[in-house]
Amino acid sequence: MSRSAHPAGPRHGDVLPEGHYTPPPSDLNSLDPRVWAQTVERTAEGALSVGGMDVRRLAEEFGTPAYVMDENDFRARCRAWREAFGPDADVFYAGKAFLSRAVVRWLHEEGLNLDVCSGGELATALAAGMPPERIALHGNNKSMEEITRAVEAGVGRIVVDSFQEIARVAHVARRLGRRQPVQIRVTVGVEAHTHEFIATAHEDQKFGLALAGGQAAEAVRRVLGLESLELTGIHSHIGSQIFDMAGFEVSARRVVGLLTEVRDEHGVELPEIDLGGGLGIAYTSEDDPREPHEIAKALGDIVTRECEAAGLAVPRLSVEPGRAIVGPTAFTLYEVGTVKELEGLRTYVSVDGGMSDNIRTALYDAEYSVTLASRASEAEPMLSRVVGKHCESGDIVVRDAFLPADLAPGDLLAVPATGAYCRSMASNYNHALRPPVIAVRDGEARTIVRRETEEDLLRLDVG
Ligand code: LLP
Repeated sequence: MSRSAHPAGPRHGDVLPEGHYTPPPSDLNSLDPRVWAQTVERTAEGALSVGGMDVRRLAEEFGTPAYVMDENDFRARCRAWREAFGPDADVFYAGKAFLSRAVVRWLHEEGLNLDVCSGGELATALAAGMPPERIALHGNNKSMEEITRAVEAGVGRIVVDSFQEIARVAHVARRLGRRQPVQIRVTVGVEAHTHEFIATAHEDQKFGLALAGGQAAEAVRRVLGLESLELTGIHSHIGSQIFDMAGFEVSARRVVGLLTEVRDEHGVELPEIDLGGGLGIAYTSEDDPREPHEIAKALGDIVTRECEAAGLAVPRLSVEPGRAIVGPTAFTLYEVGTVKELEGLRTYVSVDGGMSDNIRTALYDAEYSVTLASRASEAEPMLSRVVGKHCESGDIVVRDAFLPADLAPGDLLAVPATGAYCRSMASNYNHALRPPVIAVRDGEARTIVRRETEEDLLRLDVG
């Protein structure tokens, strides 16, 4: 996703098959604070520590690979988002990035709401005690069971995504004698990419109801005509790992445009808008993410300006950051198994995990950084590729990175910014056992999601 080419020279000469790599930092032991969780530091002994815990101790106690999460950093990021948006807005954490009971409790305690997009995520939220009115249910094909469970639980918001779903939610709510608050997910004609956005005339993707062509306006008519539904607002989500605020501004403008049309046609001022998630984080030092207060200001200003121009009362704003909250809070700790130098090319460093714990490199060509975590080293930088132990050559964790040339089996590596969409997208490919998530705080570490066992695998295999 974030990908930049750099002209600096490699250690092994000029032969670089793909030509994309981050230049060696002047000091391989240094840690860029934008990429690492807040409490990560290199101790006097040279090893990394997080939340006051030495990673060598974590590896000993919990094994590798493991996702190590800085609980204080997670909580601090929640607070930063809440404070940036203030009391007149709501921050819904997008659970798809990473969800567990502990995370739900942290969110609850820090005053965030929760966006879930499946029955499983809803069950986790409810099991951990998130008040249902602070939950929003998403999804482009929610089952009747999922809708029923959400309405029964009393979720604060269902974001409807199609005409069929409007009818389904209305039916379930009527049957249960409820009036269910809903938002309509619209596609605003803005397709956001990593560093750019492309305005498209019409949308060609599965989510939402298009503003262009009047589907969104028709959805508003239908919802307003149904007794068992309460239309509270309009929802838009334009993409993920976005750095440029321009896409959000176009989205906000178009959503307010629809609110204006709704007021003019129906005499109703909808009280809420949700502009989704998608704010980018730093995976490498090349990425330059926006801070929550900059995002809150940019979105708040545009919504206020557009509403004033249209003579609308400013609706209550909500946002749904997932990656921007959890992404930077965790790193993956691996142990090096083999180091294989391909003369004139690069060195392949195999770790004890891979595409089963981080599919993002293979799937999106995502860039990550990596550091030697169990010790400091003054050795020369060595152009490396960190790969996993799976049976395919695309099993790459970090495509291009410089690691010290004295790297050896048994060393620990840490790959930062793996809190979002790594554990949540992990698989059992090659019957790999999915790694645990270890939460570290104030010198204490505890498992919040345990490592899978072979028994877990065999339990599902009932043949
Ligand atoms: N709200 C809605 C409606 C969404 O669909 C998403 C993400 C979010 C919020 C949160 O987006 P975030 O702030 O985390 O970017 N697996 C991909 C990302 C898929 C995101 C899907 N929707 C990845 O690993 O990059």
